[in-house]
Amino acid sequence: MSPISPEAAATLPHGINLLEGRLFQANEMHEAFRILRAEAPVHWNPGTDRFNGFWSLVKYEDLLHVSRHPELFISSKGIGGSGLRYPPPGQGEGSSSIITMDPPRHVKMRRLVNKGFTPRAVLQMEPKIRAVTNTILDRVQGRDSCDFVLEVSSQLPLAVICGMMGLEEEHWPAMFDFTNQILGSGDAEYQARVAPDKVGTFEGATLTAADGNRRMNGFFRDILADRRAHPREDDLVSILVESEVDGERLTEGDIVAFCNLLVVAGNETTRNAISGGLIVLCEHPEERARLQAEPSLMPSAVEEILRWTSPLHHMSREATADTEIRGQKIAAGEKVIMWYPSANRDEDIFDDPYRFDITRDPNEHLAFGIGEHFCLGAGFARAEVRIMFEELLRQFPDIQIDGPPERLRSNFINGVKHLPVRLTAAR
Ligand code: HEM
Repeated sequence: MSPISPEAAATLPHGINLLEGRLFQANEMHEAFRILRAEAPVHWNPGTDRFNGFWSLVKYEDLLHVSRHPELFISSKGIGGSGLRYPPPGQGEGSSSIITMDPPRHVKMRRLVNKGFTPRAVLQMEPKIRAVTNTILDRVQGRDSCDFVLEVSSQLPLAVICGMMGLEEEHWPAMFDFTNQILGSGDAEYQARVAPDKVGTFEGATLTAADGNRRMNGFFRDILADRRAHPREDDLVSILVESEVDGERLTEGDIVAFCNLLVVAGNETTRNAISGGLIVLCEHPEERARLQAEPSLMPSAVEEILRWTSPLHHMSREATADTEIRGQKIAAGEKVIMWYPSANRDEDIFDDPYRFDITRDPNEHLAFGIGEHFCLGAGFARAEVRIMFEELLRQFPDIQIDGPPERLRSNFINGVKHLPVRLTAAR
């Protein structure tokens, strides 16, 4: 990461620089957000020589406002981070997926796959989700310990989304690997695979993300060719192959971008809701005991886990016209970043927001965003987190964290890379 200049750093409230992955990796962002909500709810975070500066939004109501005005705050100029100050020619052109599309095309494209994500589709899939969960837990039965992320939490979302896309099980580990590279590109562990001599640099991160995308997109081009040659009926890739928007078939680029989004969005976030959920339950033994004694509280506990963990740190938008938020002028072309962990602990919305309360009601958290781009997979994510904790706490009632979690260096994903757990009661 190229550093912020000393002059720019001097303008930061309390020196808080939200471009810093370190702040999030150390799990220190909540205190930073508390200060910002109180003192600088809409503030300019200067960029670097490489990255744009951006307006930081930390209040719940401001996230609602931006998310609900997709014509004024667009997604097509990028949704992760604030974007490069001098993008290479051609970047941002060509195919994009729904998450970086604006109305009216966004809705038309989203409709193509909507049927696969309705509450009914989720309900129909529940027995399968439970069966997969039990297969995953069977693999660690009889053991005393495991890396919860590698062996448990990452496995369920991976199986669900890959299953929906009709990908054979032998390909799932590759999807895990590509996703880690794409979303973990700022983290030394994933950079080292591509550029050991550039670990910790901007170049290392860029190379890592590009390599992950190149490999994943190459994989999907092959899958697409296969589906065209051997059409199937019911998987998401085949549906996209057969789909039309405005009378035209989707291009190869459109379909590959869609598949890339589904895999990336479908597995990394849910994995972290499950890992983060276990951490918070272990940190709050009284709430955990309440849940174990009364499993019917699970749906409400899942909502609190989502609020608490906010698996996505942010989404960004670009203003299309001069506007104002809380009296602060925002010019056309400027970036705004919506910080979900902050909105989800906003004192104006949530009573006692720093209390983890599995019966919290109301709990209208924004972990899945809201409005035009509201998470397509929210129903599946909720079902996966619920079923995983139902089975996990039933089969491993004594499971405990057994060492510090290794967290992802990222201001985008609230990631846990490794989580040592003890599966059985201490002897
Ligand atoms: C706990 C897990 C999850 C969290 C916290 C999460 C969070 C989010 C958020 C905040 C957005 C909004 C983006 C925006 O406003 O710009 C989003 C969009 C999206 N999510 Fe999720 N997500 C999760 C799980 C999933 C799953 C399991 C899938 C797929 C199976 C998925 C697929 C998508 C897609 C396709 C979009 C784009 C929707 C659009 O642009 O219309 N997500 N997600």
